[in-house]
Amino acid sequence: MQKWPPLLAGLLVHHAQGYLGFHTPGHKQGRGAWPEWRNLLGEQVFSLDLTELPGLDNLQEPQGIIKEAADAAAAYFGAEKSFFLVNGTTSGILAMLLASCSPGDYVFIPRYCHQAVVHGLILSGARPVYLQVRFHPELGLPGAVENSVLEKALLEADVQPRALFLIHPNYYGLVGDIQAQVDLAHSRGIVVLVDEAHGAHFCASSRFPTPSLQAGADMVAQGAHKVLGAFTQAAFLHCGRGFADLGRLRQALRIVQTSSPSYLLLASLDVARYQCSQEQEKWEKLAEFGLELRQKISQIPGLMAPGEELREVPGVVSFDPARLIVNVSELGVSGFEAAFWLQKERQILVEMADFQNVLLILSPPDLDYREKILAACRDLAMALKGSGKLENPLLELENIPLSPQVLTPREAFFAPREEVAVSSAEGRVAAEAVTPYPPGVPVIFPGEEITREALEYLTAWERAGGTWPGQERGTIQVVAD
Ligand SMILES: Cc1ncc(COP(=O)(O)O)c(C=O)c1O
Repeated sequence: MQKWPPLLAGLLVHHAQGYLGFHTPGHKQGRGAWPEWRNLLGEQVFSLDLTELPGLDNLQEPQGIIKEAADAAAAYFGAEKSFFLVNGTTSGILAMLLASCSPGDYVFIPRYCHQAVVHGLILSGARPVYLQVRFHPELGLPGAVENSVLEKALLEADVQPRALFLIHPNYYGLVGDIQAQVDLAHSRGIVVLVDEAHGAHFCASSRFPTPSLQAGADMVAQGAHKVLGAFTQAAFLHCGRGFADLGRLRQALRIVQTSSPSYLLLASLDVARYQCSQEQEKWEKLAEFGLELRQKISQIPGLMAPGEELREVPGVVSFDPARLIVNVSELGVSGFEAAFWLQKERQILVEMADFQNVLLILSPPDLDYREKILAACRDLAMALKGSGKLENPLLELENIPLSPQVLTPREAFFAPREEVAVSSAEGRVAAEAVTPYPPGVPVIFPGEEITREALEYLTAWERAGGTWPGQERGTIQVVAD
């Protein structure tokens, strides 16, 4: 008989009791749902949309089925302890920083990081020491922290950093020398926190890069909805062997998470872990598939899907074969234009576009779409073939100088602020992170003086079709004079 993952099994047992519920949620297991909505989603979605009830569990203090499921996740991913997250990898990043850093503590952070890291600094009051990340000049791809950059930063630091924050992999599936960097940090008594939003599938097979827990990371926030099949928002937070202050971490999680977690999201985490553990063969095929697609796409005139070349990106030692990057710059168009063409002409939506590339996330169900992907690439190249090579303004992100940090991100957040036009923001101190999305990497960090180069980059991004959320178009929030 099929053995269900524990959290899902618990939900089904509860449902089988046929209770008449006088508790939240107000749709009353579908009895009160708008009929069209219920018909659309199906009865079971409502029956299983439960809350903390006798026989179920409590996310803030798991003792029952959530604990069982989290323990199973810890065993599978190789953690000492795992927590379920219903507010994305974002909540894991916030909790890691809150749990391990106190106001004034220094944290080493790659300049190419997700905005959640900056928001974690605002919450914790920690001070960033940014590590510059270089780009590959032709591919226009951001690399990883280089060992030499980390070593130099450690040498120059006149304070003992509390933590090193790493992104493993970056949005493009590129990974740095995590083993060496974890070892180096640990040898100096520095805690290693990792954003593994895009790497939950790494432990499915050795065909993928080394998972950061295996490299000895102390805490890892890991997305389960980006590549694995969990519902959107579902993620894990794992503790490695080195992290001790579980009490503070639990409290941090209570700060950043809802007290009414969706059991559908929680069950989807349990199922995603279970499914991944059962489907090693499919993941191995997927790794092979990603490499094969690269080869075939690179044979199409005007397109290039880098594989082994990715190891030439600064700081990169390995890459995720399931992250397909298609560089379109030889066609003379931007990645934004290529993505738009694929959407409009082939009903294909990609994960992300940038100045030079479109990025496709592959997971096992895509194994059936080899011909569709290849045909769309061939047609794209034929349709958009232009002349000349697109200039690569992405390089400017790397070239944006690290500007003086006038305030910490937390001080900048709480300082009186005003909104100014982008055109008059140069030299002002940013009150917010200005973050083109995707990939959600800030170009301007709160507390820093805004440089001309950063503003030029944002203008180019917008002109090329990119956007950034969080503020009125054409304005930036700065610390009031
Ligand atoms: C590298 C990276 N880290 C963290 C996040 C945040 O993850 P989530 O959207 O699950 O909160 C993202 C989201 O795109 C990301 O790309």
